[in-house]
Amino acid sequence: MTPWTPADIPDLAGTTAIVTGANSGIGLPTARELARRGARVVVATRSADKGEAAVAEIRRAVPGADVVHGGLDLADQSSVRSFAATVGDTMDKLDLLVNNAGIAMIPRRMTKDGWELQFGTNHLGHFALTGLLLPLLLAAPKPRVVTVSSEAHAIGRIDFDDLGLERGYGRMKAYGRSKLANLLFALELQRRADAAGTSLTSVATHPGATATHIFKLGPLQPLLGVFLQSADAGAVTSLYAATSPQITGGEFVGPKLKLLTPSKTARSEELARRLWEVSTQLTGVRFEEIAYR
Ligand SMILES: NC(=O)c1ccc[n+]([C@@H]2O[C@H](COP(=O)([O-])OP(=O)(O)OC[C@H]3O[C@@H](n4cnc5c(N)ncnc54)[C@H](OP(=O)(O)O)[C@@H]3O)[C@@H](O)[C@H]2O)c1
Repeated sequence: MTPWTPADIPDLAGTTAIVTGANSGIGLPTARELARRGARVVVATRSADKGEAAVAEIRRAVPGADVVHGGLDLADQSSVRSFAATVGDTMDKLDLLVNNAGIAMIPRRMTKDGWELQFGTNHLGHFALTGLLLPLLLAAPKPRVVTVSSEAHAIGRIDFDDLGLERGYGRMKAYGRSKLANLLFALELQRRADAAGTSLTSVATHPGATATHIFKLGPLQPLLGVFLQSADAGAVTSLYAATSPQITGGEFVGPKLKLLTPSKTARSEELARRLWEVSTQLTGVRFEEIAYR
């Protein structure tokens, strides 16, 4: 059987999609290929200049692409709220949300809201964004949320008494924790969507080691260009998870589109529920439509 490629993406005319962090790395080709198949795509980026440059690049690659930029800083909950409000004013449904943006392996810093930056951006930013966009997602016939996690989730641990990682911060430790939170979130979102009887599909992905900006910042920089795949190749996992009819909610899709098994910690429903409750308390975003009754 020939391997799946972005040419296999079904016709997306009439659908709408948001890709966070779509100005670089894996996010840019993800947005571009969705636009190529006819989706209206919002390139959600924290830098307006980088967002507009990404829109121009996609239009060059795909003449006539229906693509626009939206300002979104996931490390600032007020920005997440204003982005979601703008989207709500301009769209009546959202078919696809790709929670792609991420930071990795940086020195300890905090978000505007005072949370450890990797957890606050990668997890809490996307948690709030998804919850605020949920009414629009549920207005679509077959809504899908793709959350880009990583195999690095396997080293993640969550200590609810030290969410700021004040006791022994480590760059990799913080990244692993944020990617574990991404995976716990994606799986719990599916359970809640199912329990509420909605048609929402939530999928998690690990793109595989990819030569992107993340590696230029972190201690893994020497790997860049040695045996890493291209950003276009890294985007294939997201694109398959986002569009393939073969996907079942709650799956964790890896490189070469193989299904991965989440770590034992990531499979803990108790931990996922607790993280959901804490994330709700921190962000104030409640996911009312799929709350357990
Ligand atoms: N590359 C890999 O090998 C690999 C492996 C496993 C998982 N992943 C995951 O893949 C995803 C995409 O990363 P990438 O590898 O493509 O890296 P990348 O090239 O660094 O892209 C990350 C994107 O996230 C954006 N971003 C960072 N902080 C943000 C914020 N506060 N608000 C909004 N956007 C923000 C960046 O914007 P700026 O340009 O403004 O910084 C950039 O567009 C991440 O979730 C990462 O954890 C990557």
